[in-house]
Parts: sequence; structure tokens; C-alpha cells
Amino acid sequence: MTVKARTVFRCTECGAEYPKWGGRCDACGEWNTLAEEVERTATKARGTSRGRATAATTSPVAIGSVEVTRSARVSSGLRELDYVLGGGIVDGSVVLIGGEPGIGKSTLLLQVAACVARAGRRPLYVSAEESGPQVRLRAERLGDAALLVELLAETTLDEILAVARETRPDVLVVDSIQTIYSADLEGAPGNVGQVRECAARLMRYAKESGCAVFMVGHVTKGGGVAGPKTLEHIVDTVLYFEGDGSLDFRVLRATKNRFGSVDEIGVFRMTAAGLEAVENPSALFMGDGGAPSSGTAVTALIEGTRPVLVEIQALAAKAGYGTPQRVANGVDPRRLALLLAVLEKRSGIPVSQLDIFVNVAGGLRLSEPAGDLAIAAAIASSVYDVPLPAGAVFIGELGLGGEIRAVSQSERRLAEASQLGMTVAYVGSRGGAPRGGAGIRLSAHEHLGAMFGSLFRA
Ligand code: TYD
Ligand code: MG
Repeated sequence: MTVKARTVFRCTECGAEYPKWGGRCDACGEWNTLAEEVERTATKARGTSRGRATAATTSPVAIGSVEVTRSARVSSGLRELDYVLGGGIVDGSVVLIGGEPGIGKSTLLLQVAACVARAGRRPLYVSAEESGPQVRLRAERLGDAALLVELLAETTLDEILAVARETRPDVLVVDSIQTIYSADLEGAPGNVGQVRECAARLMRYAKESGCAVFMVGHVTKGGGVAGPKTLEHIVDTVLYFEGDGSLDFRVLRATKNRFGSVDEIGVFRMTAAGLEAVENPSALFMGDGGAPSSGTAVTALIEGTRPVLVEIQALAAKAGYGTPQRVANGVDPRRLALLLAVLEKRSGIPVSQLDIFVNVAGGLRLSEPAGDLAIAAAIASSVYDVPLPAGAVFIGELGLGGEIRAVSQSERRLAEASQLGMTVAYVGSRGGAPRGGAGIRLSAHEHLGAMFGSLFRA
């Protein structure tokens, strides 16, 4: 066996490998992403000569006869996290949690470790970013169970794995994947090769030991997890922890999950004693519920598998000079442009000379067209300066002709709205109006013009 050192240049975006440095990665087209990496590989002289077939040591089996030990799921102790994971922590799974600095990744995982300890199982919290005293200060805010969590302040992967193999934890937390390194690879921690290798070795450890591994991942300016894209391919589950820095609630979202559905959200509030699950997310995304003012409309979205009521605010103001401004928070600007064109052309609302600001309360992002009708209603309400009826919810997709289409899962949206005290639902009747739920009146319209007629010109 010989040990060779080899220098390669690897793209930090896509992981493509080159023998020489270049300004641009040919594989993904990104500029200035090639980084030098020294790989020390142990090569073993192969016994077989080229061309001669070797005897296979494994053989294929029918999928139906593959043996399975059903992976057990254990509650993380945080209901919202269980929800996002698809029902709890799966033994032997690897979860990557990404998010902006200061959003609460370390807090979340320390709380998970504390819950695991409280449930009589064994957590190991590896801090490669913060010192023991720093972690202790955080743990003191989180309560007694957090103080029982075993801590390892270590940055070398080999040491972390050695300790884990000895202490056999049920849950291993690595904070963060960009700050640990393996001595087998040269290059600083956070380097593409290091991140990939460390993640792959943690994955192997998780699969062979059955220990669930949580890794924290830093995010880049673009919002993705820093490091090679392959990192997201290696792990079983990718979660993003997001929230408006100035607000105290946080949304946990799955973008990949081998053990559950994606697009599930969990909502937390950051308090003085750590993160707290928000029981009723709808209440958070709704305004203060005071007297209705012009320019606000409520819609019911489906986030993951649950309906959430969201308030949309719009402000139409006379433009100063030049091109009117369109500012959209939480709404795709192109969608807003389309809705404004429909408003102008199909219902005669003069928006082209107005500055339009649209905001989704609570920093949530509107990703389904079911919110179209509420955005349109909020803008129209602001233009006319007439508040929308109290207790009204708007659910519908707008077509280019101004027609209002019914949306999927209407019954569930209506049930949530009625549960939160909404009394009337404005819905589309194109494609069949939904059936009304208990306690909520339906006002179905085929066209935007007709609906605005009944709302503003009655
Ligand atoms: P942290 O978990 O360190 O974030 P990350 O690991 O994602 O960088 O959380 C940092 C913020 O959370 C920090 O600004 C302080 C705040 N915080 C609280 O408000 N309450 C608490 O109980 C804790 C532990 C943190
Ligand atoms: Mg941290």
C-alpha cells in the first residue's frame, strides 16, 4: 500500500474536479469557484489485471425479499420538529439544518438533545464552534435537562467518531459541519473536500450505529447550505430554519426528506428560555384583529399539509414621479405584476399610475396561487380606501381574463377559516364552487369584476 498526495481543484458549487486551476467551472458555468484541495489517497495494488473479470462477492436480490428492520421513530420532544421530520427522529438518519447565523440552530439542537436526555436516551452534543462555557450559558437558559446533555468541544472528526463509538449516543449533534475537519484531507475546515468527506463519514457512522445525526450547516449569501451541493444529496433530510431577524418567530421547513413529506412547516417562537412551539400558526400570521382597515385581506394557504390563515396587506399610493414602484414582500414580484395587469385590464381599477406595496404578515412567503384573490382584494380595497368586510377570507386563483378559479383542498381551508372565527368566504366558482363548511357562508363569484361589484359598489 502506498500513500500518495494529489492536488485537485474542485468547484465549490457543483463539486466537479479539475487537475488545473481555471477561472470558470466548465461543469456548472460558475466563475471563480475552483478551490485547491490536497487529497491523500491510500492506493492498494490491485491483484487483478485489466480486462479480466473478477468474481462477484455480492448478488442482486428481489426488492420484495430485502430484509427490513423497520426504522423506529422517536419523538424529538419538540412537536413542531417532529411534524417537519414526518413523525419524529428516525434511528440512523442524518439531518442537515441550515439557516442564517443567529436564527437559533444551536438552540434548537441543544433543546432536542435536552429532550432526548429527558426521555432517558443518550444525546451527544458536539460543539466545534463554541467553547464549553458558551454552550453552558445557553443551556442554563434552556432549563435543567439541557445541563445533563453530554458535551464534546472538538473539531476533529476522527476524535468525534472515536468518542461516539465509545459512548454510543442515540442522537449525535454536530454543530457545525463547516467547522469540523478530517486529518485525512488537507485544507481548512469548510473546504469543499472537507465538508463532503466529513458528511459522508458521519453518514456511514449513522448507518452502521443506528445513531441519528443532526448537523448544522452554514448558509451562503444565496441562502443555500454552504459547501458542495453533494452535501444535500448525502444526507437523508434537509431542513431550513428561517425567519425575519427582527421578529421572534421562526419557521422550520423541510426541502428534502427521505422519511416524510417535504414542504411541511413547523413554527417556533424564540423566547428568553429557548424556542417554543407555536400552537396556532394562523394566529401569528394574522394581524391584531382590530377594526378592519382598508388594504388588508385574509387568505387560507396550505403550508405542507396544514391550512394556515395569512393576512395580506396592500398599500396603493399616488406615485411621485417616474415609474411607479412595486414592492412585494412575501409575494413573487412577477406574480404581483400579473395581478396588477389583471386588475387594471379586467376590473378597471387604475393601478398603473400608483405605487403599490404588498406585504404578507409575519414574513411568510406566498407560494401558491390560492392567495391571488386576497392580494387583488387587498389592493382594490386600498385603492378605493374601503375596508373589506370583517370576518372575510378570500380563496381563489386568478386567471388572465379576470376569472376566479376554485383551488384545491378548499374544504380544509374553509374549516380552518371557520375555526378561527371567519364568517364569510369569497371563493371562485370557475371549476365548481367548493361546498361550504359549517359556520361559514360562501360568496362564490365567477369573475373579479362581479366580486368587486358586490364588495365596493353595493
Ligand atoms: P443560536 O442558537 O446561537 O443561533 P445559530 O446557532 O443559528 O447561530 O441563537 C442565537 C439567538 O437566539 C441569539 O441572538 C440569542 C437568541 N436566544 C434567545 O432569544 N433565547 C434563548 O433562550 C437562547 C438560547 C437564544
Ligand atoms: Mg450556532
